[in-house]
Formats: sequence, structure tokens, C-alpha cells
Amino acid sequence: MATVIGYASTVFVSTPSSSSTHSTTPKFCFFKHLLKPILRRKKLLLASNIQATATAPSTDIIDINQPDERELSAKTNILACPICYNAVIQKGDTGLTIETKPRSSFECSTCKKSYYSNEIYLDLTVASGAKDYTESTPPSIEIFRTPLVSFLYERGWRQSFSLWGGFPGPDKEFELAKDYLKPVLGGNIIDASCASGLFTRLFSKSGLFSLVVALDFSESMLRQCHEFNKQEEGMPKENVILVRADIARLPFVSSSVDAVHAGAALHCWPSPSSAVAEISRILRPGGVFVATTYIVDGIYGTLPFLSTIRQNLVQLTSGHIFLSESELKDLCTACGLVDFTCVRNGPFIMLSATKPC
Ligand SMILES: C[S@@+](CC[C@H](N)C(=O)[O-])C[C@H]1O[C@@H](n2cnc3c(N)ncnc32)[C@H](O)[C@@H]1O
Repeated sequence: MATVIGYASTVFVSTPSSSSTHSTTPKFCFFKHLLKPILRRKKLLLASNIQATATAPSTDIIDINQPDERELSAKTNILACPICYNAVIQKGDTGLTIETKPRSSFECSTCKKSYYSNEIYLDLTVASGAKDYTESTPPSIEIFRTPLVSFLYERGWRQSFSLWGGFPGPDKEFELAKDYLKPVLGGNIIDASCASGLFTRLFSKSGLFSLVVALDFSESMLRQCHEFNKQEEGMPKENVILVRADIARLPFVSSSVDAVHAGAALHCWPSPSSAVAEISRILRPGGVFVATTYIVDGIYGTLPFLSTIRQNLVQLTSGHIFLSESELKDLCTACGLVDFTCVRNGPFIMLSATKPC
């Protein structure tokens, strides 16, 4: 049975945890959650020592024995090659922060492909570095790659989601998300499809995460994100990195990420199943996925043949894919996530699911 919870002036319908796909979470899992970040960080440091030893002949590999660099190395050790998913090793300048210096480079430990950062973000897309090859992407992606939409995004575009979409607004959404993220506080978080970084800034300034990765496919959104990050008062410089990547090919080591947040983005992804599968791959056991999107329920959910008509909406809405609550739950389950739960307000839904321990 759905319960109704009040949140400020908005009312949300909350799916109770009894509707979870797996309702039995062993108690020891909680302690594993507490210990995991500490053990994992130790493991990462150990791994970075092993990697550095294995690649010692190269003089431009960072000196992980310097305390600051070791810390950054441990934090960025989650980064992987989007082609083979093995760790990338940072070479040269380690300035991969808000003030990233151009030409920081990473090299895949397996295929040896190099990935470069400009002064703003590290490009970890599969096609990065390609000279002649270009790929056409659906309108739902292309629209966000235009500098005008990136400029307008937090200057009216995002605010309109509250007017007609039931979105409570970034501050309230952040508060709701924090509740779901409680088990992973202190860990790293990917703000997937961050756009101009409205949540990246909130996550970073909250001090609740050791590393915030602002990730988007749009170059212009990442530029706007960088501008806002620089202007934001009290924004820490050390715990945010900007990464260009495709949600369906996430450049992170498997089971290395504590949390993935994806605000208002799932309906923009060309293949939600490829994206959620990737999110599931990178989450460590006990890691949490939190996302908001629009749902299309009601008549489309009750009469299955109408879902064909609903899919035609995809064409009408420039490739946006709107799912029902049960489809979202099914999608998470199909991708190996458990404990699906959500809050709703009209077409707005915030959902959460967990990687099983
Ligand atoms: C509506 S905006 C959401 C921004 C923000 N998270 C929020 O809560 O308002 C959707 C974002 O998804 C990004 N996006 C679309 N397709 C993507 C993909 N394949 N990989 C990564 N990001 C993608 C777009 O560039 C855009 O910035």
C-alpha cells in the first residue's frame, strides 16, 4: 500500500520498503557498509602502489608517495578506460580539480589509450582523440550540447520542471536524495548527467562525499558547470572533478563507486537499460542509485497495447523516453539492483535502488 508523506508544501506518495524487490537485507550488510569505504580505500592505495610499481619505468607517472598526490590518486583510482573498463593511470600533472590544468593525461593500464583533459574536464568518451570520426546522437542529447541551452539551463529551463512536472526544486530534491544516500555518506558519488552542475555544487558543498564526479556528455554543459563551480561561494576545489562520458559507457572501474545520482536525466538517455546496467556495474555492493525523472502512468500502464502508442511519444518528444513506475522498478531489477523504492509528486518521481551486498 502506498503511503503519503508531506514534504514542505508538496505531498509525495512514497512506495513503502515492503515493495522492495528484495526485502531481506542481512544485518551484517550494514556493518559491511560502514567498513567497506575504509577497507576499499586501503585496497585502492595498495592497488595504486602495485600499479605504480608495475609501471615504474615511466618517469611521468605521479609520485604516489607524496601525501597529497597519494590522496588524489586514491580518489581518482575509480577512473577507467571506457573501452576496456580497466583502470587508467594519471600521468604528469595531477591538477584534476576545479582548477584543472590543461593536458592532464591518463593512460589505460591495458589498452594504453591516452585520455586528456582540457582546462575544464577530462574526456573519457570512447571516441575521444578521434580526428575524423563523428557520430550522430539523438536530438534528446544534441539539444543539451548547444551553448544556448547550457546557458539557459539554470536560468529558467530547469525551473520550469517545477511548474509543469511536479519537480520540487533542487534544494528539496537534494534533501530527498540525501535520505536515500545515508548508507553511502563519506564515499564517492557520480553526479551523472550533471548538466550545469546544480547538484554537483550541492553535493560538493555539503561535505558529505569524499569525491564528487560531475559527469555529462555535453561539452557546453560541462563548461557552464565549471563556470558555476568557480563562482559558487564555499565550493571546495579538491573534491570535484569534471568528466565527459557517455552514460552507456561509464569510465569507472567495476564495483568502485558508492553512489550514482542522476537528476532529471533518465528520460533523456537513448537506452535507459544500457545506462542502468552500467550504473549497476560500477556500483560497489551496497552502493546506491538515486534518480529523478518523469513518469507516464495511468492509462498507458493499465492497457498494455497503449504502451506501443506511448513509445511513439518518443518520436514526438525528440527521443525522450518516459516510463511508468513499474517499468522503472522492472528496469532496476533487470539490471541487478534491489530494494527499489520511490517518492512521487504528479509526473515527478525520485527512485532509489541498491546494488546487493
Ligand atoms: C535535463 S538535463 C538534467 C540535468 C541535471 N542533472 C538536473 O537535475 O537538472 C539532462 C542531461 O543529460 C545529459 N545526457 C543526455 N544523454 C547523455 C548521455 N548519453 N550520457 C551522459 N549524459 C547525457 C544531457 O547532456 C543533459 O545535461
